[in-house]
Amino acid sequence: METTIGIDKIGFYSPEYYLDLADLAAARQVDPAKYKIGIGQDQMAVLPPDQDIVTMAANAASQILDQADREQIDLLIFATESGIDQSKAAALYLQELLAVNHKARAFEVKEACYGATAGLQIAYDHLAAHPQSQKVLVVGADVARYGLATAGEVTQGAGAIALLITRQPRLLALQQPTAYYSEEIMDFWRPNYRDTALADGKFSTEQYLRFLALTWQDYQAKTNMTLADLTAVLFHIPFTKLGLKGLRQMTADLAASDKDNYFDYFQQATVYNRQVGNLYTGSLYLSLLSLLDQQQLPAGARLGLYSYGSGAVAEFFTALVQPDYQQHLQVAVHQQQLAQRQRLTVAEYEQLFQQTGLTDDQDYQIEPQSPQAKFYFAGQHDQRRIYQRKEPLHS
Ligand code: CAA
Repeated sequence: METTIGIDKIGFYSPEYYLDLADLAAARQVDPAKYKIGIGQDQMAVLPPDQDIVTMAANAASQILDQADREQIDLLIFATESGIDQSKAAALYLQELLAVNHKARAFEVKEACYGATAGLQIAYDHLAAHPQSQKVLVVGADVARYGLATAGEVTQGAGAIALLITRQPRLLALQQPTAYYSEEIMDFWRPNYRDTALADGKFSTEQYLRFLALTWQDYQAKTNMTLADLTAVLFHIPFTKLGLKGLRQMTADLAASDKDNYFDYFQQATVYNRQVGNLYTGSLYLSLLSLLDQQQLPAGARLGLYSYGSGAVAEFFTALVQPDYQQHLQVAVHQQQLAQRQRLTVAEYEQLFQQTGLTDDQDYQIEPQSPQAKFYFAGQHDQRRIYQRKEPLHS
C-alpha cells in the first residue's frame, strides 16, 4: 500500500459565550444586513476570563487524543498569533495538560493566520523524513481582537483546532507539491504593546485575493491541475464574504452550470465559521471541519485549501478525502458544543472584552465558568500562569 501522510483526527473548541451580530448591529447603529450579508457572519464567539489559547487548545485536543496518541506524538506544534509569553512556548503548557510524553519536540510558531499551515507542512516533512516517528500534534488557537466599535469588530472570534497528523490518515491525505508565496506587506499586525490587532482593512482583503491568484496560478503550473480536478475549495475565513470573493475569483471563467457545486460546498464549509467568527490560524481548518461534518463527500474527493497569513504568507495545497472518513468525525460533539453556548448582551460582551488581555503583574484568581471546558485558566501566582484540569484525562 502506498504510504500517505495527513490528517487523522480533528478536534475543535470555541468559547461557550457568543454575541449575535444583529445585536451588535443595533448597538453600533448599522444595518444588520451589512454584517449578515455584506460581511457574511451571524455570530461571534466571546472569550471568558477562564479560557485562553492554551486552555482552548487543550479542550480541542483532548477530544481526539487517546493514550496511544499521547505516547506516540514526538512533535507538538502550537500555532498562534495571540501568544501569552514572549519566550516560553504555549506548546509546553499544552504538553503538560494533555500528558503528552516528554520525548517530543514542543514549540510555538507564528505567522499570523498562516501558522497552522506552517505547522501542518512541517508535520508532513517530519513524518516523511523520520520513518520511526509516528504522530504529530498541530494546534492552532487564537483570539481575534480588533477593539470595541472598530471596523474589524464584527470580524472578531476565538477558538482552537487540533490536528493529529499520521501515516495512513483516516480523514485526509495531504498532497505534494504545494505552492507558496511570501512578501513583506503591512496589511494586518499587532505590535508588542497592543492586545488588539491593527489592520489596513481594505488593503488586507486585496492582498488576500492577490496572494490567492499567485499561489493558485503557481499550483496549476507545478501540478498541471485545473479547477476541474478539485471537488471543492476551502479558504482561510476571516469572515465568510472574503472566502466567497476568493471562490468567485477562482471560478470566474467557469460556465454558470459548472459553478454551482463549488458554491454549494462553500456554503457547507462556512456553517461553523459563521457562528464562531475569525479563529485566525485555525479558520481554514474550522472550514474544513465544517465541510466534513455537514456534507457527504464523494470517495476520493480532492479538496483545494488556501491558507493566508497577513504580513504576508500564503499557500495553496490539496488533500484527498479518505474512504469512510465520516466514521472518524465527532459531528455530534461539535454541534452540541455550539448549540449549548450562552448568548450575551452587547453590554456583557463589552465587559468581557475589557476584562481579557490582563497585563497586571499581581496575583489573581479566576473561577471556572465554561461548563463544557475540561481545562481552564485559573489565574496568576508569582507571575506564573496557572492552568487546571477539571477531571482526569480519559484513555
Ligand atoms: N446590506 C448588505 N451589504 C452591505 C450593507 C447592507 N446594508 N452595507 C454594506 N454592505 C457590504 C458592502 O457593500 C461590502 O461588501 P463588498 O465587500 O462585497 O463590497 C461589505 O458589506 C463590507 O462593507 P465595507 O467595505 O464598508 O466594510 P468596512 O469598511 O466596515 O470593513 C473590513 C470591512 C475591511 C473587512 C473590516 O471588517 C476589517 O478591517 N476587518 C479586519 C481585517 C480582515 O479581516 N481582513 C481580512 C484579510 S487579512 C486576513 O485574512 C488575516 C486575518 O485573518 C485577519
